[in-house]
Amino acid sequence: MKLGVVVLAAGKGTRMRSALPKVLHPLAGRPLLGHVLDAAAALGAAQVAVVYGHGGEQVPNAFPQSKAEWVEQRERLGTGHAVLQAMPAMAAMDRVLVLYGDVPLIEPETLTRLVDDTVETSLGLLTMELVDPTGYGRIVRDKSNRVLRIVEQKDASTAERAITEVNTGIIVAERTRLADWLGRIGNDNVQHEYYLTDIIGLAVADGVTVATTAPETLEEVAGVNDRAQLALLERHYQRGIAEKLMLGGTTLADPSRLDVRGSLSCDQDVFLDVNLVCEGRVRIGANCHIGPNCLLKDCTLGTGVEVMANSIIEGASVASGARIGPFARLRPGSEIAEDCHIGNFVEVKKSRIAAGSKVNHLSYVGDAEIGAGVNVGAGTITCNYDGANKHLTEIGDGAFIGSNTALVAPVVVGPGATIGAGSVISRNAPAEQLTLTRAPQATIEGWTRPTKAAIKSST
Ligand code: UD1
Ligand code: CA
Repeated sequence: MKLGVVVLAAGKGTRMRSALPKVLHPLAGRPLLGHVLDAAAALGAAQVAVVYGHGGEQVPNAFPQSKAEWVEQRERLGTGHAVLQAMPAMAAMDRVLVLYGDVPLIEPETLTRLVDDTVETSLGLLTMELVDPTGYGRIVRDKSNRVLRIVEQKDASTAERAITEVNTGIIVAERTRLADWLGRIGNDNVQHEYYLTDIIGLAVADGVTVATTAPETLEEVAGVNDRAQLALLERHYQRGIAEKLMLGGTTLADPSRLDVRGSLSCDQDVFLDVNLVCEGRVRIGANCHIGPNCLLKDCTLGTGVEVMANSIIEGASVASGARIGPFARLRPGSEIAEDCHIGNFVEVKKSRIAAGSKVNHLSYVGDAEIGAGVNVGAGTITCNYDGANKHLTEIGDGAFIGSNTALVAPVVVGPGATIGAGSVISRNAPAEQLTLTRAPQATIEGWTRPTKAAIKSST
């Protein structure tokens, strides 16, 4: 059985009040439509077609890697018309599942259940019971509880509006029959739209039994129409991630103050303080402690790493036992070995720092290779950029760099070397020796401070 998926994403999204097409608004750092495409992929769809319109090529351009077929719906004449546009792309499919670009949290398990539950018949619907069904299409059943048709809110009678079982919009149908029904729907309704939902009545008239199944949660089938609904789904999604982490052995100071925009994996007994944002792929080893207000992006932390408040780690790796922050920034290409200390107001870029070294205060370390057991004093700067090119600074094992040193790269400081505080090191400093550049200190005998000139009276 070849399953095709049609994703409707041509809507205008007026209520988002945005220049960005609605389906490109991010949820957990990924476009809404990206979540739906992932669900289709998880189902093992043989072909995916996305019906787009509003926002033009911006929508397909946002998914350069996707193998989906992009079908433009030039005029938005209704959901039935939209699916019809995608039918040529479904020509080789046995069944077609219709999803929505603005319904991002649909679970592949639910869709698999819908598809499996309806194999015996040509048409399956995902429906749900709502206390307040306002706005939704209502599922009209006969006395034997068989589905007869769907009536849209705007076309419904008072009695029909009292029905609490509603259409989620998600349907699965046999491809050939779907094509036939879609060819027969009209737009003789209040909105003058071609309703996808009209195929249900046609199917029933053809003697087809319509099967229904329900989602696990209402959030799964919730659509995003405005930014308030987007925020609700974001929180729901983040809550799910937080629950999984906690059940997996991670302590969260507050599960509502964690945002994962990508993937986060934590080994046992990790503590995450409030307001952590994770982006891309983040891996945290056992017994790490992450302080408040940190940003971790595409990084790996070993075991027992302590990241103190307000630190940013991006594209970097930090080995076991290291201590980072507070207010540290590790930029891409930084490799911090075991038991290093990278302290407050220290920026590290594309540098390797070997085991046990310390850069504790107010430093910039860029394009550097620092050995083991090195002490980099407060205010040390690697002058790695000459205005045109970047150059390497090498510091051997056990070196001691005095405070406020400028290391003018390319430069090598030998193992065990000591650099006197305040030096500007522009030539290689030999191993085990004291090297310093420093103007001699002078005291001017008998010097007095200037005094303010007396102001002359104007009288
Ligand atoms: C639709 C269903 C309704 C269901 C509800 C669930 C129809 C006629 N009604 O109503 O039974 O309860 O969804 O939310 O299907 N779209 C296009 N092209 C179009 C029209 C719509 O791509 O020409 C897309 C929209 O972007 C949107 C989705 O289809 O994502 C639903 O369209 P909308 O007009 O909002 O349908 P509803 O009135 O919500
Ligand atoms: Ca809608």
